[in-house]
Amino acid sequence: MSDILIRAEAVTKVFTTRRGIVEALKDFSLEVHRGEVVCLVGASGCGKTTALNLMAGFLAPTTGRIVLEGREIHGIEPRCGMIFQSYALFPWMSVLENVSFGPRLRGVPRAERQARARRWLERTGLAEFQAAYPGELSGGMSQRVALCRALANEPEVLLCDEPFAALDAMTRQVLQEELLRVVQLSGQTVVFITHSIDEALILSDRVVVMSARPGRVRATYDNDLPRPRHLDVQLTERFLELKRQVWSLVEEEVGRALSMAASKAGH
Ligand SMILES: Nc1ncnc2c1ncn2[C@@H]1O[C@H](COP(=O)(O)OP(=O)(O)O)[C@@H](O)[C@H]1O
Ligand SMILES: [Mg+2]
Repeated sequence: MSDILIRAEAVTKVFTTRRGIVEALKDFSLEVHRGEVVCLVGASGCGKTTALNLMAGFLAPTTGRIVLEGREIHGIEPRCGMIFQSYALFPWMSVLENVSFGPRLRGVPRAERQARARRWLERTGLAEFQAAYPGELSGGMSQRVALCRALANEPEVLLCDEPFAALDAMTRQVLQEELLRVVQLSGQTVVFITHSIDEALILSDRVVVMSARPGRVRATYDNDLPRPRHLDVQLTERFLELKRQVWSLVEEEVGRALSMAASKAGH
């Protein structure tokens, strides 16, 4: 893999709040290759969501740049699709309307956008629910719809901010398998945030461990677990070996985050 799709170049992000300034990211640099699945892990508050929002163009860096396909991004980036922990579906629209909403905004003709939406709904086992409304769906189904909605835009890169974190363990596993299948099918480039090392190892080609705040890339691990991958990969020796390596570093950074918080509270 050689083709770099996204590059974060020495990005700093400082938030100014009433209570002072918060340095969320400092010297954050990352390269994501086309067709790669990168999982970002790190302590709570280390700047993961901020990094993703910068890649989506929802936020602008304080210093440094985000480059997509060789050009610096300015403003909300239509080539990026986003999936959040809260599904953010439109409650007044049917499942089909939700999934075809993005293509509709882009002026894709009705027949084509509905066909595209139906195709994704079929691929994720939701064909029967196209006329349902979000209020009638379970959490797992809602997140599947959110995944379809993002994919229907055929984004260059799919940005996922802990999309499965609020789901129960069983549903989460089903959706992990589903995402693996979909990514296999589409060759989609994915940047996926999670606080679960298991999830990161199941999904990724590369695991990026962030430092405690201000966040930067502390280390990256090539994930050589074979594909196509199924959840039983978690039972292999190699999985445990990688997990041990990643965990020791994450643990160190979580420890640093906690001790920084404690010393601040002491003042
Ligand atoms: N809009 C904002 N305004 C002020 N501070 C923010 C804002 N967004 C994030 N932060 C702060 O930046 C830091 C990193 O937050 P975030 O990126 O959400 O971390 P993570 O997703 O890793 O938990 C936190 O200290 C958070 O309070
Ligand atoms: Mg977050």
